[in-house]
Amino acid sequence: MPSPQTRAALEEAIGMAREGPPRVAALAASLAAVAPHQRWVRRPGRPSGAFRDGHANAWLIGSYRGRGLAVGISLMAPGLRYPDHRHPPRELYFVLAGGGWWREGQGWSERRAGQWIHNPPGVLHAMRSGPSALLAVWFLRLDGR
Ligand SMILES: [Fe+2]
Repeated sequence: MPSPQTRAALEEAIGMAREGPPRVAALAASLAAVAPHQRWVRRPGRPSGAFRDGHANAWLIGSYRGRGLAVGISLMAPGLRYPDHRHPPRELYFVLAGGGWWREGQGWSERRAGQWIHNPPGVLHAMRSGPSALLAVWFLRLDGR
């Protein structure tokens, strides 16, 4: 993990997800087993401040330069905001430990464990953690459709 903050956030988020709906709890148990073996990285660019040390992403399947479906994990410690960003691939998030998701033209909405978020190709979007850690699995369709 990139920092002690992200290590603590992962532990908190997995703990909360294990108390969630059955499919969330089952996925959390699987992630708890694989998370320590992933290569966790900070987002590209130059993240700074509390966000820099409080977030981490891991690619479980695929890579941004690949094709087809890629699957990964996003993690944020409490009280952080992921920067607005856009990318050509369509994106789905499956929430394990909730927070807020923002999408251009739609504003913020709070999502809890077990819910999905869809971002169409190229749309500006962001997310934020509340008083507890945020954890979501994401899916990118890298052929851009
Ligand atoms: Fe995204």
